Amino acid sequence: MKIETSQFKEVNSAEYIQAMDAYWLPYTPNRYFRKNPKVMTSAKGVYYFDDHGRQLFDGASGLWTSPLGHGDPRMIEAIQKQYEKMDYVPAFQMAGSETFRLAKRITQYTPPGLNKVFFVNSGSEAVDTALKIALAYHRAKGEATRFRMIGRERGYHGACIGGISVGGIPANRKMFGPMMMPGVDHLPHTLNLSQMAFSKGQPTWGAHLADELERLVLLHDASNIAAVILEPVQGSTGVIVPPVGYLEKIRDICTKHGILLIFDEVITGFGRLAANFGADRFGVKPDMITFAKAITNGVIPMGGVVVREDIYDAITGIGGQEQAIEFFHGFTYSGHPIATAAAHAALDIFESDGIMEKTKVLDRVLGDAVHSLKGQAGILDIRNCGVSAAFDLEPIAGKPGLRGMQVLESCIEHGILVRITSDTIAMGPPFVATPAEVESFVETFGRVLKKAF
Ligand SMILES: Cc1ncc(COP(=O)(O)O)c(C=O)c1O
Repeated sequence: MKIETSQFKEVNSAEYIQAMDAYWLPYTPNRYFRKNPKVMTSAKGVYYFDDHGRQLFDGASGLWTSPLGHGDPRMIEAIQKQYEKMDYVPAFQMAGSETFRLAKRITQYTPPGLNKVFFVNSGSEAVDTALKIALAYHRAKGEATRFRMIGRERGYHGACIGGISVGGIPANRKMFGPMMMPGVDHLPHTLNLSQMAFSKGQPTWGAHLADELERLVLLHDASNIAAVILEPVQGSTGVIVPPVGYLEKIRDICTKHGILLIFDEVITGFGRLAANFGADRFGVKPDMITFAKAITNGVIPMGGVVVREDIYDAITGIGGQEQAIEFFHGFTYSGHPIATAAAHAALDIFESDGIMEKTKVLDRVLGDAVHSLKGQAGILDIRNCGVSAAFDLEPIAGKPGLRGMQVLESCIEHGILVRITSDTIAMGPPFVATPAEVESFVETFGRVLKKAF
């Protein structure tokens, strides 16, 4: 469906070029951006509209944030109503009634036993919070020597100190060495194109890489290790799907050694893998789950950590006087009432519009569509899981990232948005897109690649 765009042409790019003097864009090559600005002026349904009046299919659901599309009137109404009723309530020593209800509701999506929710405002905060909970838990149990954390190469866990320490993206780490947490190791990532290129869904090779965790336990002794943190599917470095049996092995090793397993589900939570969480998709139950992004459909920042009840019990049951705070952590906007209203509205839509069923259809449609491009020039790998997929492209010699950038520019000219990480292109269309829209999106992407190579 073509939406009339003239109403959205209210800005002119020159103004933005001037305004860019003041705006330092995050995770953006700012010098390149000034020469090639991308300015969005509005969003409706599964489309963005830019300052050239172009209608762009939202092939990455914002930043994996907006699976329900943009501007749903039900979200608008819920947010407006909450604003009129109560715009803010202190997050410490009290909370709005709807935030209690939201916590309960979220635990109906998480695996049984994970039923205490700590609210924060972003994925990064969720990760750092989960790491702190892990330390507090072991300490409460009298095992304060357990402080080491284990992440994974190519993992992305946000931009805060804990997250970059356990994260495994070199560029996010190399400038910040002295700030990083001590005592962190990384498991190897599981992507090996010689063994698994063009796998549909989970690759069958690679479960043995989980044994590296046993090696780290031998090296440090389990009594020094607090937690392992992993994205079930690594999103930011390009939809790296866990090999069959890999997560199960990690779970078993953690259980055997009393190490907590944290699934960072900031991208994978709430339907992205055509299941509530990656934990459900892969049938592996972690001890904590972080979430953010889709919980409010990206409309208002919100994140959180869902923890096993006995973790909560251990930390809150450390003794001392009852009026004393047990866990010294939290944020001014934790469980913010307007974010809470947005989250309830998003979950209402999720439930009333049969969104989970739609994700199951799109899982197949997107998987078939992306793998149909196999054999086209320039594609080194195609991966998919749920409503997410990625392509590794042949780089331009000596210029890492330039191919990805050129492909993004060309995608925009062709009316589609994708997510780039260097020369890897990720896709995560909205769950409310029709199968035909998703097919046409991928077909357009195929045309872009034909031009590029
Ligand atoms: C797995 C994961 N963890 C944490 C984050 C950080 O989230 P935020 O940007 O909301 O801080 C992200 C962001 O993409 C993510 O993908």
